[in-house]
Amino acid sequence: MEHQVFSIFLLALMVQGTFCATFTFKNNCQYTVWPATLTGGGQPQLSSTGFQLITGANQSINTPAGWSGRFWARTGCTDKGRFTCTTADCGSGQLGCNGAAGAPPASLAEFTLNGGGSHNQDFYDISLVDGFNLPMSVTPLGRSSCKSTACGANINSVCPPVLSLKSDGRTISCKSACVAFNQPQYCCSGEFATPDKCHPTNYSRIFKNACPQAYSYAYDDRSSTFTCSSGANYIITFCP
Ligand SMILES: *[C@@H]1O[C@H](CO)[C@@H](O)[C@H](O)[C@H]1NC(C)=O
Ligand SMILES: *[C@@H]1O[C@H](CO)[C@@H](O)[C@H](O)[C@H]1NC(C)=O
Repeated sequence: MEHQVFSIFLLALMVQGTFCATFTFKNNCQYTVWPATLTGGGQPQLSSTGFQLITGANQSINTPAGWSGRFWARTGCTDKGRFTCTTADCGSGQLGCNGAAGAPPASLAEFTLNGGGSHNQDFYDISLVDGFNLPMSVTPLGRSSCKSTACGANINSVCPPVLSLKSDGRTISCKSACVAFNQPQYCCSGEFATPDKCHPTNYSRIFKNACPQAYSYAYDDRSSTFTCSSGANYIITFCP
């Protein structure tokens, strides 16, 4: 009995402490980006929910064990009394998003750490389900068996006019068909709310062709989700 209690204590210690992860955000874009973090599942937000990264710079953030949430980057931000961005703005009016999500379209890196049956797997993906604003990649560190995933293409340059969000005549982000048209067949909602009913469309294929590893619609195939044994750290690169 005592042994069992001790084992549970050890397990709790491992889940709580040992498997925290460090995420390093790196900006390889020719322009400044403003990364943002959003913790899911009603858990506390991370130590930073938004920061600036000039070209070539990097910044690291630690996450607790069992963390789940998303990362993205805002572009074209200015602070004229109120902080706003031309893409993926979170509406906080500040550098930090403080628990708010970015407005679509936004390329997302999504994570669930310490998931699966024995809590020893990290799950991650790049999602274009809410559209695309800039290329990004996820690279696990210190685990040779874990794969990187990326959307390295600039989808803004192949975005059809009906999905394009423009600024000064230039496409700055590309909406998904769900965001643009809000129809069940594109959003996998209503009578299309199951994987066998919701299929790729000519719009989602534009995203999939450009970025085969990324989610192009809500029930995209399993090739879009990646796993790594927990304990890895990750590099999130913008414009890899
Ligand atoms: C982050 O920046 C520091 C300081 O410039 C540099 O030494 C380090 O190698 C960079 N890390 C990555 C992962 O690029
Ligand atoms: C996609 O299909 C719809 C309906 O069939 C059509 O109206 C639209 O022009 C197509 N879009 C593209 C990008 O091919």
